[in-house]
Amino acid sequence: MRKQRPTTELIFPVNYLIRSVPKPVDAPVPQPDVSTPEKRGKYLATIAGCGDCHTPQDAHGQPLPGMDFGGGVIFDGPWGRVASANITSDASGIPYYDEALFTQAIRTGFVKARPLNPIMPSHTFRGMTNEDIAAVFAYVKTFKTVRHHVDNTEPPTYCQVCRQTHGGGNQN
Ligand code: HEC
Repeated sequence: MRKQRPTTELIFPVNYLIRSVPKPVDAPVPQPDVSTPEKRGKYLATIAGCGDCHTPQDAHGQPLPGMDFGGGVIFDGPWGRVASANITSDASGIPYYDEALFTQAIRTGFVKARPLNPIMPSHTFRGMTNEDIAAVFAYVKTFKTVRHHVDNTEPPTYCQVCRQTHGGGNQN
């Protein structure tokens, strides 16, 4: 005779964490719309997680409204304390970027002579094709501008816009 198996009970906190685990795919996955460079770039940037690191969040992990790609997410670890950059085309962001400079930043982790902190994962992005990088840049150019000065070369000060302490925060 077979023994009845006990029902699985998940212990805390796994029972909560598991809710955010993706469900198995059980229906056809719709093809992404990659009909224009901007749409293709959006698809690639979503996979690459650009927005996860470059959009500040509230205490509950929700993106701050109107701050998409506005930077200021703090990363504190062995790499130092660094805030993500505002990658919108506002004057406080990266309005001066062209495709060549963007490609350099993505592939090498340098912006001209300025090294980017390695938390910006250029080492994983450097294998992207020129076409993919151009598409991501086309998408970046569609971002709504966000006025948010973030500069890791300046001392960390309180920022009333993202309510974090980051370089140049007192200029917001
Ligand atoms: C793991 C988090 C993370 C991810 C993912 C990420 N970034 Fe970054 N990014 C950062 C941080 C942090 C900085 C600031 C580095 C510094 O100032 O030293 C940065 C800097 C940059 C810069 C340089 C801006 C300047 O100061 O000139 C650009 C451009 C950029 N990121 C674009 C992107 C794009 C596009 C993607 C997606 C393809 C992306 N990032 C994904 C964390 C991330």
